[in-house]
Amino acid sequence: MCGIMGYIGKNESLPVIIDGLSKLEYRGYDSAGVAFYKDGEIKIIKKKGRLADLKQAIEQMPESGIGIGHTRWATHGVPSDTNAHPHTDCNERIAVVHNGIIENYAQLRKDLILEGHDFVSETDTEVIVHLIEKYYDNNSLEEAVRKALKHMHGSFAIGVISKDEPDKIIAAKKDSPLIVGIGKGENYIASDIPAILGRTNQVYIMEDNEFAVVTADKVEFTDFEGKPVEKEIFQVTWDPVAAEKGGYEHFMLKEIHEQPEALRQTLRGKIRDGKVDLGDLGIKPSRIGKIYIVACGTAYHAGVVGKLVIEKLARIPVETDIASEFRYRDILWQSDDLMIVISQSGETADTLAALREAKRQGIKVLAVTNVVGSSVAREADKVIYTHAGPEIAVASTKAYSTQLLIMYLLALYLAQERKTLTTEEIEIITSELMKIDEKVEEVLKQEEKIKKLAEKYQKVESTFFLGRSFDYAVAMEGALKLKEISYIHAEAYAAGELKHGPLALISEGVPVLALITQDNLVEKSMSNIKEVKARGAVVVAICKSNLQEACQECDEQILLPEVQSLLTPILSVVPLQIFAYYMAVFKGADVDKPRNLAKSVTVE
Ligand code: F6R
Repeated sequence: MCGIMGYIGKNESLPVIIDGLSKLEYRGYDSAGVAFYKDGEIKIIKKKGRLADLKQAIEQMPESGIGIGHTRWATHGVPSDTNAHPHTDCNERIAVVHNGIIENYAQLRKDLILEGHDFVSETDTEVIVHLIEKYYDNNSLEEAVRKALKHMHGSFAIGVISKDEPDKIIAAKKDSPLIVGIGKGENYIASDIPAILGRTNQVYIMEDNEFAVVTADKVEFTDFEGKPVEKEIFQVTWDPVAAEKGGYEHFMLKEIHEQPEALRQTLRGKIRDGKVDLGDLGIKPSRIGKIYIVACGTAYHAGVVGKLVIEKLARIPVETDIASEFRYRDILWQSDDLMIVISQSGETADTLAALREAKRQGIKVLAVTNVVGSSVAREADKVIYTHAGPEIAVASTKAYSTQLLIMYLLALYLAQERKTLTTEEIEIITSELMKIDEKVEEVLKQEEKIKKLAEKYQKVESTFFLGRSFDYAVAMEGALKLKEISYIHAEAYAAGELKHGPLALISEGVPVLALITQDNLVEKSMSNIKEVKARGAVVVAICKSNLQEACQECDEQILLPEVQSLLTPILSVVPLQIFAYYMAVFKGADVDKPRNLAKSVTVE
């Protein structure tokens, strides 16, 4: 995720662009930059850090009626001045801003270098500007961009300007958002409506494979081939503050709803022809003796699922531990061990310390993180990025579901390389994973029903979350979500463990959220539910639709779409996130910034 903003018209472009970018910082904030036309040249100013750092670098707002800007969330290449957008070609004729991922950038870059193009950044985006440069000599900017698009695989929303045609911005979109705002004698491009709210309420929402030539007085839409496209204006009636959160009241709710898209981004390019491609892990899968998964909080809960799925599919022993505990243990390291650290921020002090200890012992470390260029990403031997986009709410949601998806992909990859599953078995699971985003969308449709449950139970003081196997792992995450944002006491237990003590806590009217998604364990789980019901608990079942009948004795049911038991965590966590969210809202808590908590825990 990144934010794009462009302006062309009768006013000064830079103040408008910077103001627009400030509304898009939720889309990325590790670096920012602008390109504008002045005195026959394209000038670029860009800076690592927040938009405030860019503003400082622009001492005086230069006069210019056309420009493009960008706020970055790194996907390829660490946050740095050089990797910040806009990018330019060898002759500094063209400038490009981009949101998305060019999947075939490595090959394009190689080819362009052989053709004599000099690259300065580590980004995938830089291939776009060199491709345009390649075709620009004998063509107009419009034709050169169209030709470049033919070579680009992946997702992109782009804005392009040229010093030779300073009367237009070219925009194109595929799988990343882009809008065009219509003013009087001025027009805009942006990643999202908040960037231009207050300037115009007349907007065209670009669809995939659409191309726009934006001048000060006119906008022409075509497809990538040049065939005209008729579009209808969208009248914006949003409140500017709510708009930054995409119309949602809180970032957490927005991020819960972003999960289908985040999962699509995580999956992008990792499954080809039914096989999982994670590249070189730095250690041969057949040589791995044991895996340690180490993380904190929500990321640790993703690691618990990782353990279950890697052991099941790839038949490698796995231990998952909390980083602050792991680092003080005397681990019996073996040279064929692999450590996997999971961290949304990539900066968590305990996780980083555990990583460093493994490296000191000569152990290979694989990092799963959301933040490119983070400490964990830099220090690990190999990184797999979750590509969930920035997570602003303190309570982690989309980072967790994308971490889960990486755990599945990793387990499948190891199974594939170690041949512990057949090609057909792998294909069955990968084809389900490719549709998991749609199933999450189905679960999200139950928001109103879950909200009503939260309204009903908002006054309770204590709750319990029960499950077995994968369901227990998700129960832990559900309980953490509820306690951290609503401050209601929430405990997760392995359902079978209940009668060894915790059952004494169950009393009349206590809500028990029971996860029942494992086909082979449904009877056992139902026995535990009968035990809590007999002691007065009210049971809300989160169950797979094929198990609905078996769950009939539960007081309430939230049904999940049919999916292999193994994959249910990605679905079953969603109702728990929504439940926690509304419980917090009904309690009047500060959902996005819960008391005593911080997003990135850089102290031990
Ligand atoms: C809970 C939550 C925390 C983090 C934990 C680790 O919603 O977000 O429990 O998961 O602090 O943070 P990262 O993943 O950044 O290492």
